Amino acid sequence: MTKIVDISDEKVNGKLSKYLQGQFSEHLGTGIYGGIWVGKDSAIENIHGIRKDVVDALKEISVPVLRWPGGWFSDIYHWKDGIGKTRRPLFNTSWGGSLESNEFGTNEYFDLCEQIGADSYLNVNLSSGTIHEMTDWLEYITAPVGPMAELRAKNGHKDPWKLKFVGVGNEEWGEDGQMTPEFYSDLYRLWQCFVRQYDPEQKPIFKVACGPNIDDFNWTHVVMEKANQFMDGLSLHHYGLTDLWDKKGYATGFEAKEWDSLLYSIRKMDYFIHEHGLRMAQFDPNHRVKLIVDEWGDWLHNDPGTNPAYLRQQNTIRDAVMAATTLNIFAKHANLVEMANIAQTVNVLQSMILTQDDKMLLTPTYYVFDMYKYHQDAELIEAYSDNGDPLNYTISKKNGRYIVSICNTSKDESNNITIKFGHALSKPTYSKVLHADEMDACNTFDDPDRVKLMNYTDYQINDNKLEIALKDKSIVTMIIPE
Ligand code: AHR
Repeated sequence: MTKIVDISDEKVNGKLSKYLQGQFSEHLGTGIYGGIWVGKDSAIENIHGIRKDVVDALKEISVPVLRWPGGWFSDIYHWKDGIGKTRRPLFNTSWGGSLESNEFGTNEYFDLCEQIGADSYLNVNLSSGTIHEMTDWLEYITAPVGPMAELRAKNGHKDPWKLKFVGVGNEEWGEDGQMTPEFYSDLYRLWQCFVRQYDPEQKPIFKVACGPNIDDFNWTHVVMEKANQFMDGLSLHHYGLTDLWDKKGYATGFEAKEWDSLLYSIRKMDYFIHEHGLRMAQFDPNHRVKLIVDEWGDWLHNDPGTNPAYLRQQNTIRDAVMAATTLNIFAKHANLVEMANIAQTVNVLQSMILTQDDKMLLTPTYYVFDMYKYHQDAELIEAYSDNGDPLNYTISKKNGRYIVSICNTSKDESNNITIKFGHALSKPTYSKVLHADEMDACNTFDDPDRVKLMNYTDYQINDNKLEIALKDKSIVTMIIPE
């Protein structure tokens, strides 16, 4: 098929927040220990204990924000055990019960953010923590003077860090609290009173309330009704599954029908955002409160031979197609969705990076983020995704250049698209494609470059028309000067 898109009026439809390309790193399996943190004395090259290869790769995709320390883990995390010279090890009862050293704590997280150039997004422990513990944490991070600032200085960091986002609780409707939305709303109203910046020079913290799981529309209704005026964002979690939770398929070696079922599940994001947006608009018609999709991605069976609690999964061209489709869905809802954080950055679920001892590889999903980074903070011209259409896309404009990203979700058919602009086009300055012939093509430590970005030449420019031919299972990004 050939799809025709006419953007000749070049109307701007809002802005694509850079935070739509956020990441999430949790203390889970080797997501932090081994994947990010190796310690200063490690033989693996590191800067202050943080893997240099991982930092270099993350810098390259311009990670705008990093959510930490969880997830479920945030609700067992007591930050004071993770600062200073002597750390109190903890049992990670959220994920397999492993005993963790706590060497990666607040100072190390902010160091990581600084090294990769990301803003901070802290999830505080509403489930098993206290307001006092939280206020001490916020003071430790943001106060220029006072007892917590002195403690921070004693631990090697004189200046306060910049704290941008705070999530108040995580998945409180589930294992983290088994709360009703009414109970959570009341708790949120209380806790958020104390989410403060301790540096008067800094902007107020962006407060994110714990939002619904997938299609729990009642949660959204109640929390918005009772507390919308006290929040800046409401979170949403949705993971792509090939089947039911207990029948998840594998990341590789899957059947053709599992391509379609995962795509079906991933595309529900469009519906969930739309439907939750309707509930939010009942109490906040102009969407002052933003939807924050702070956990998303493919959740597949853990790789054979790995600890099921560590959620380690390979990453294939199928995951790349799902990531591009989801980013296009976020762009379509850019007036409502302000931030999204893929789960998770390294070694967990749909990761950007896999590590094994001193080895590191970039996943197909990484390359999607590498192409999409050009859309960060661009003006949105058009974003499209439709359940019945194999093609979805984002077209934006930044610094006098058009950025065009198209995804062909079909596993076996090529598709074409023609985009009509308002004037004659110049030659692209960037043109890349991610494609693989096999549905489960992936990068391995023996063959780390099997799926990677290639130069893309299968296009034509005829005056004001850009004609793009997409192979099956492919994602293209082009940058064209105005
Ligand atoms: O990302 C893995 C887990 O998924 C998170 O810890 C939790 O919040 C969600 O259920």
